[in-house]
Amino acid sequence: MRVVCISAECEPWAKTGGLGDVVDALARAVAAIGEPESAAEHTVQSQVWVGTGGVMGQAPGGISPHVERPVDVFLPRYRGVSVPEDATSTPLAVPDPRAPDGVTEVRLVEFEARGYRVRLVDHPPAFDRDGYYGDENGDYEDNGWRFGLLCRAALEALLDDDRPVDVLHLHDWQSMPAVLLRDVAYAGYPRISAAAAMVTIHNLAYQGWLSRAQLAGLAAPDEIAQLIGPHQDGLLLLRDGVKRAELVNTVSPGYAAEVLTPAFGMGMDGVLAGLGHRFGGILNGLDTAIWDPATDDALPANYSRGDLAGKAECRRALLTELGFDPADGRPVLGMIGRLDPQKGFDLLAAAAKDLLVEGARIVVLGTGDPKLVADLRALAAKRKDSVAVLETFDRALARRIYAGADLYLMPSRFEPCGQGQMIALRYGTPAIVHRTGGLADTVIDADASPDEGTGFVFDVPKPPGLLEACRRAMSHFHAGGDAWAELQDRGMAIDWSWEAGPADQYAASYRRAVSLRRER
Ligand code: GLC
Repeated sequence: MRVVCISAECEPWAKTGGLGDVVDALARAVAAIGEPESAAEHTVQSQVWVGTGGVMGQAPGGISPHVERPVDVFLPRYRGVSVPEDATSTPLAVPDPRAPDGVTEVRLVEFEARGYRVRLVDHPPAFDRDGYYGDENGDYEDNGWRFGLLCRAALEALLDDDRPVDVLHLHDWQSMPAVLLRDVAYAGYPRISAAAAMVTIHNLAYQGWLSRAQLAGLAAPDEIAQLIGPHQDGLLLLRDGVKRAELVNTVSPGYAAEVLTPAFGMGMDGVLAGLGHRFGGILNGLDTAIWDPATDDALPANYSRGDLAGKAECRRALLTELGFDPADGRPVLGMIGRLDPQKGFDLLAAAAKDLLVEGARIVVLGTGDPKLVADLRALAAKRKDSVAVLETFDRALARRIYAGADLYLMPSRFEPCGQGQMIALRYGTPAIVHRTGGLADTVIDADASPDEGTGFVFDVPKPPGLLEACRRAMSHFHAGGDAWAELQDRGMAIDWSWEAGPADQYAASYRRAVSLRRER
């Protein structure tokens, strides 16, 4: 099988959030499945689709389980993306409804890296800008053209390749033009039109609306006529893209079930439910080589299961760095992420005073909407010994917090998967999470399941819910002893790696997508 990813982000070339991490790790993990020695293990797959319409049953036979290398990842070349010296750069003519003669010449900058092939679409008028998706005035008005150009350039490059594509793996709204164009502009080109489309939704909050005028940047008039009816005002990329895809998934089974309800579906619940067994959830993996307290060189000391002496050292160093008293036994609650209502920073801000009364110390690291942490900042100014608010983007500091905190907070209102809670558990830091989406799928409550618990889970995303879970967590922390060590150990023992599950599940899904495409 030849698999090609198209995405707006892929770490380290382009990243604003979890999407970038996941596309990179997934491409690497899926490409590794093509290694001959591991292929035998992957011939039988079952029941990876846990979404709606029941369980989907076996992956189809008759389609090779081998994923060919290289796996390709198409990305925009945004401003500042540096490329290795051995990268090649080739001109590529791309149909472009905005170009005076209907064709724009872009450059395709290609190189092998991290186990897959990066294929950057280089066209400065589209991508050499301040932001990826917009600036201080909001989303770029021509995003339909920009991401249409990304996808169209990818399809044109694939048309020229010496091997046809079996699976187009598309991520979020920015890559939806690929499936739309496949069906309307490339219907006469079997190399493209025969490819199956698998869509992974990382963020349902952004769906990519294009008005008729904006659509004119993406497609030519006769193509637009095929994409939308004469009375439609425009097109919602994510909605109209998933309708045409063979398979659609989101990044945890729990979130897949939630988005079928109006409360979480963001207007897409009906469309997703309509996909029946073609929609499901696959829990993201974690890159366990990148996230490993035993080798993490951002930490003042390393540690692993069975010997947490280094974690105590990390705690001391972090508290000193924050200006907290390292000899003080009060628990330190860490929280990292985008300052965004999705992540529930405001819940923490509202609960913070009570938490301090209960003997907590708090460290927050994140950038975004400063209003969400205004209360916390005011508290930090008064209680420098107990509250630290660090409004920066600092990868190494994030690692020091995962390792040095006693408890990790993730009170997200909704969470497709989430990565912080997995990292925290791997670093021996039990997580306090809202029972939603991927958080509910990855953290087990220690009071409800004393022998299996890995953290503390609360049901109502309001300050009292968070407070109650923190109280329980802090009482376990203070009790300490074997019970606390076992709680930490259970979290550290989990194998979150892509190889342990998700990579196989995607590989099986690719086969199923191919078989669905053949049936159409
Ligand atoms: C988005 C989601 C997050 C998920 C990530 C990667 O950022 O909000 O929950 O972990 O994508 O799939």
